[in-house]
Amino acid sequence: MNNKKILVTGGLGFIGSHTVVALINEGFKVIIIDNLSNCHTEVLNGIQKITGETPEFHEIDLREKKKVDKFFQKNDDLAGIIHFAASKSVGESIKKPLMYYENNLCGLLNILSFQSNSNLIFSSSCTVYGEADRLPISENAPIKKAESPYGNTKQIGEEIIKDFCKVEKDFKAIALRYFNPIGAHSSAEIGELPLGTPQNLIPYITQTAIGQREYLSVFGNDYFTVDGTPVRDYIHVMDLAEAHVAALKHLIEAKEETNYEVFNLGTGSGNSVLQVIRSFEEATGQQLSYKVENRREGDITAAYANVEKANEKLGWQAVRSLEESLKSAWEWQKRCAKH
Ligand code: UD1
Repeated sequence: MNNKKILVTGGLGFIGSHTVVALINEGFKVIIIDNLSNCHTEVLNGIQKITGETPEFHEIDLREKKKVDKFFQKNDDLAGIIHFAASKSVGESIKKPLMYYENNLCGLLNILSFQSNSNLIFSSSCTVYGEADRLPISENAPIKKAESPYGNTKQIGEEIIKDFCKVEKDFKAIALRYFNPIGAHSSAEIGELPLGTPQNLIPYITQTAIGQREYLSVFGNDYFTVDGTPVRDYIHVMDLAEAHVAALKHLIEAKEETNYEVFNLGTGSGNSVLQVIRSFEEATGQQLSYKVENRREGDITAAYANVEKANEKLGWQAVRSLEESLKSAWEWQKRCAKH
């Protein structure tokens, strides 16, 4: 038990809840802030069942300055903050740009304004690279103009933190650029809960396999890839969660010379949509109905990570296979269907 107090904002969401489990497993004392806009307090029961502990929970919207200020005044002994709380739907962000800028950026600004010399981990995304010129994508690849307000909030978020770190020398931050997080905890007590029709590939696959959707639309098979379908780097959410713990320890132990760093988090391997479908069928024994349709607007051809920097500096690498990730997503889907 190291008893260090860590604030996890958005700690009841998909990646947040798995990271809370990974933190508790490492002996950290977790405090969660969430506004419950895209999740449920039942997730706390799942965390309790897995870890035997129920973290302290505060229902706070990070845009509410007074509440955030009060929280940080009461909790001036945090060893670190992992900031997940943000809206994350690309399509919704195009329809509601102001809501995205306000939610994703005001929350971050309030944390930076009111915290007292903590270590910060920021949830960023490989979306900042757009269609990269070179694969695998390393951290020094050029940042491309964002395709959506959502992507823009991640780019601006990184810039805000970088500028803050230039003047606040005691403040340390790491931005983690996630590739495609998938899967669920092996207990199937927590997982991804997409609201409405899923936009992402894996929840759409599992909902199709269980009969909630008629078939999966494969968005285009005329890309310049191994089989014509787009390639992504799918990473198990528990691997991602463990990377946050590694990054946090790295910050706490002050192992970095600079006070702002960026790391890619992926497996380092790409898989096409058809390869994912085949792996899903093999891992679960389910037959998946799918149809090839037109390309989805805004989709890129291929993205997978160069993960050398995280391997070397954080001593972390993804260890779970694509099959294991897909199987865990399926177990979670079956569990959800029962409720
Ligand atoms: C999406 C977001 C991206 C975000 C990332 C993180 C878009 C355009 N991009 O990326 O900004 O950072 O999620 O989760 O939403 N696919 C199908 N049929 C489907 C769904 C997806 O064929 O029903 C294909 C897509 O064309 C893509 C791949 O599956 O090639 C993965 O799609 P998805 O899970 O939505 O992730 P990204 O597009 O990589």
